[in-house]
Amino acid sequence: MGLVIEVHDLVKAYGDVHAVEHLSLEVQKGTIFSLLGPNGAGKTTTVEILEGLRTATSGNARVLDHDIAEGYAGIREHVGVLPQDFEPFDRLTPLEAVRYWGSLFKKEVSKADAKKLLEEVSLSERANLQGMRLSGGEKRKLGIAMSLVGEPDLLFLDEPTTGLDPKARRDLWALIRRVESEGRTVFLTTHYLDEAEQLADDVVIMHKGRLVARGSPADLIARGGAGTTIVLGGAGPEGLAQVQRRGIQAELRDGDVLVRVTNPAEMKTVLAKLAALDVPLKDMYTQRRTLEDVFLTVVGAKMKEGVLEA
Ligand SMILES: Nc1ncnc2c1ncn2[C@@H]1O[C@H](COP(=O)(O)OP(=O)(O)OP(=O)(O)O)[C@@H](O)[C@H]1O
Ligand SMILES: [Mg+2]
Repeated sequence: MGLVIEVHDLVKAYGDVHAVEHLSLEVQKGTIFSLLGPNGAGKTTTVEILEGLRTATSGNARVLDHDIAEGYAGIREHVGVLPQDFEPFDRLTPLEAVRYWGSLFKKEVSKADAKKLLEEVSLSERANLQGMRLSGGEKRKLGIAMSLVGEPDLLFLDEPTTGLDPKARRDLWALIRRVESEGRTVFLTTHYLDEAEQLADDVVIMHKGRLVARGSPADLIARGGAGTTIVLGGAGPEGLAQVQRRGIQAELRDGDVLVRVTNPAEMKTVLAKLAALDVPLKDMYTQRRTLEDVFLTVVGAKMKEGVLEA
């Protein structure tokens, strides 16, 4: 295994704004790592420091066993990058852009290889259209193809699926998993928490430049109290009263009654009691805790603290 990224006490200040505040994290080789956080948390700043595009104010970072304070020359060709604000070259076609990009990093990309890459991101039909004529999602796909040129050992994807349609998003998940299965490493930022939950081996949530939570998605979800929520759709206040009369804790949200079951062994008994309710229901379903719940709890708590401090 081994570490591909080691960040220690990293700080990036822009005058009074501390975009990154004493951040430390590690990424294992051959894993998918996801950096999460609300807008302005410092994700892109962190990623771009690790890509050698911005310099840190203090702290240190090693990427592919290389201290990045010493420059990026030795590792540039092993690292693939999709910037958050990627824009294609206006007048190059995807086919030309992929090949040109390879040549910049001393990688000879044959026409056949370029075509294959474009096929992988489902852009073959647009291979010969000028960059400026591509749709938003097509531009994103081209950016992803360019980041993959030369089979990098480490791939940074800053919000790769923003603007992609649901099918394209899932295709990209498959691609990311394949990269991982080849022993390569993916560093991903995203606002789609389901994506991080599905893909990431490890997650760091940051807020105002600081790390506020870390762990595998499963650990983070379990830490907030495992359990399942049973939703009684449209049961209303009368439903809530009946549930409570049966000694079950519940709450009302938007006309639905929510029952939290934390101990799986109790599930059957609770369900039996709920089945005996005498109220009309629109529907009934169970909901498990997700990474999005964790995110909203953790970041929500930090935001409240911020309000109290101010
Ligand atoms: N060059 C800069 N000069 C001044 N402030 C900056 C600069 N770059 C970033 N910032 C500030 O640093 C903070 C972190 O920005 P960053 O782009 O890293 O956030 P992010 O987590 O990627 O957010 P998003 O989810 O919106 O992409 C923001 O408050 C931003 O305004
Ligand atoms: Mg960003």
